[in-house]
Amino acid sequence: DETKAGVKGLVDAGVAELPRIFHAPPHILDAYPTAAAEDPNFVFPIIDLGGAWEDPEKRKKVFAEIRDASASWGFFQVVNHGVPASVVEEMKAGAHRFFNLDVEEKKQYYGRDMRKKVVYHSNLDLYTSSSANWRDAVMFQMAPNPPAPEELPTSCRDVVTEYSSEMLKIGDSLFELLSEALGLESNYLKEMGCAEGVNVVYNYYPACPQPELTLGTTQHADIGFISVLVQDDVGGLQVLHKDHWVDVPPMADGLVINIANLLQVMSNDNFTSVKHRVLVKNVGPRVSIIAFFGVGFTLGSRIYGPIEELLSEEHPPRYKKTTIQDFVAQSYKQGLNGISFLDMLK
Ligand code: SIN
Ligand code: FE2
Repeated sequence: DETKAGVKGLVDAGVAELPRIFHAPPHILDAYPTAAAEDPNFVFPIIDLGGAWEDPEKRKKVFAEIRDASASWGFFQVVNHGVPASVVEEMKAGAHRFFNLDVEEKKQYYGRDMRKKVVYHSNLDLYTSSSANWRDAVMFQMAPNPPAPEELPTSCRDVVTEYSSEMLKIGDSLFELLSEALGLESNYLKEMGCAEGVNVVYNYYPACPQPELTLGTTQHADIGFISVLVQDDVGGLQVLHKDHWVDVPPMADGLVINIANLLQVMSNDNFTSVKHRVLVKNVGPRVSIIAFFGVGFTLGSRIYGPIEELLSEEHPPRYKKTTIQDFVAQSYKQGLNGISFLDMLK
């Protein structure tokens, strides 16, 4: 029952020292240096989507920027994306409301079975991980088969529903731009079903008494097609670039887009799915919201592999084909810890 109170439960109980299980091994913590914020070699890409729908010249510029960022960083932040700021703000407020519920109320959503439509958990990968993460989370499988409204917690039901329809809309636009960035017809990735399935996750990182000894999220690469992330102003997300951790700057009006493993596979390595992690601080809680495209267990048995149009004699397929269900199940089984899930398809 203690686990069901999550990391927040520990903090509420007044822990003054980091419990052993949260101590991350130094070889994981210190594997790479963090790039200095002002280092010109490590400027995190920010892409302005304004005008990309109306102005064909602007659109060409945007998809070239997306192509370059997706190839070299696997990450970029977009502004002027059209998701209303009020929905994003209300969505963050919904996270605070959910995690501030009494444990008694939260624990009805507690579980480890990611096939469920709503799963509140803390350290899902505890059994495969070398240390626990300073994080609680709740996952909602919102599309293509959304939960019935009464299955969603009242504390965030309306906004999670509204947010996921905004994500499906921006998803359509992003997959058009990503298709063009790969040199494909703009509908290509949408027709492959990439924009159909979205899981929305709230991550909650309480203030930590000894933040330098642990991680909010251990380094990992995401599983599905893309992830669309909002972080609040506490910050802490870092992306691995040229063997350095690079801080992703918190931007109230930005959405962070991350190429995930299956899109790397489909792109036959034209795009890259990059490792990232979250540092915690002694201030908080920090909240992040992620819309994961292509990790839903209800997405069925469609087969994904390197896209034929991108293959040639000089560019043979680098991966085997898989279904989302198999790939996600296998990936969850292996846990985080920086394992490369892509090796499973080689
Ligand atoms: C994650 O990538 O799983 C978490 C990212 C974040 O909380 O910023
Ligand atoms: Fe991630």
